[in-house]
Amino acid sequence: MTVAGASLLDRLAGIEEKGLAAIGEASDPGALESARVEYLGRNGQLARVMSSIGTVEASARRDVGQRANAVKTSLRDALERRAQQLTAAARASSDRIDLTLPARGRWVGGVHPVTRVIDEICDIFAELGFTRVLGPEIESTWYNFTALNIPLDHPAADMMDTFYLDEGVVLRTHTSPVQARVMEAYPPPVRVVVPGLAYRRDSFDRSHAPAFEQIEGLAVDEGVDFVEFRAAIEHFVRHFFGSGTKSRFRPSFYPFTEPSAEVDVTCSVCSGSGCSTCKRTGWITIMGSGMVDPAVFEAVGYDAERYTGYAFGMGPARIAMVRHGIPDMRLLYEGEMSFLRQFI
Ligand code: DAH
Repeated sequence: MTVAGASLLDRLAGIEEKGLAAIGEASDPGALESARVEYLGRNGQLARVMSSIGTVEASARRDVGQRANAVKTSLRDALERRAQQLTAAARASSDRIDLTLPARGRWVGGVHPVTRVIDEICDIFAELGFTRVLGPEIESTWYNFTALNIPLDHPAADMMDTFYLDEGVVLRTHTSPVQARVMEAYPPPVRVVVPGLAYRRDSFDRSHAPAFEQIEGLAVDEGVDFVEFRAAIEHFVRHFFGSGTKSRFRPSFYPFTEPSAEVDVTCSVCSGSGCSTCKRTGWITIMGSGMVDPAVFEAVGYDAERYTGYAFGMGPARIAMVRHGIPDMRLLYEGEMSFLRQFI
């Protein structure tokens, strides 16, 4: 049985027309590939015509064959052109977005690392019932020294460490005077933490600043003893520095506490084995502390027979330095964004 060459020529004309249209309409590489498979694929429309050429009457076979090859070439050319157009269009649209331009992030402020330390310390003591209170930075020598059992001729009260504003008026050299102010204003029991700035005539160097933060703590009640004091400090140390941190109390002297102790914690940088941060000792001193001296209770009018208490004072900038391994305190006070940005 033979097929009329004319009918195959008609089919070829249809394939060319519809194929060119499909290729021209393909708007993305996927659609173009579908058109290729449909018209030029191994089982596509053109292949089906070609496979039936053998059945065409011999006289028309050559014409049909030539025409089939011509349609194939024309579809292939169209396909190639369309593919180039699509690639060019894709490139043009991505050229309009310059991916190498630095992004413009929104400016976000951050909490200063020392402020963060202060807030965390106050939060931990808040869990133990301590209220956060503030006191004045300009202070009388009575609150700054005398009420705290520091005679004015004591080395700590010496002109050398203190900014005097006037006779009997100083920039407070510590936050301890707020202890006396709180006890004068409120009857026991009191539990307070007092963050704030203190001022000393110190040089501005790696480990000193003439204005620096302190946090004072004071707990007074009937029956407050050294055991409660240690438990409170250890609770703080574990919560602030981590549960593996050990603390030790070293005997010391402050005129307003008796006995007095300095609290050391195991160095968080070397875990106690000794490094430059802890000067090879494995320990870092974080606060001065002690049981409130009865002389202080007497100065503020508390019954020293009935009440006992403990107090402590620490430097959040030093603690921030230990926490972050910051080698120089000035970095915390110079306001240099290139340094501070890492803590945001
Ligand atoms: N006021 C002391 C200082 O500035 C720190 C301090 C030590 C505060 C012992 C206290 C304390 O309340 O009990 O060096």
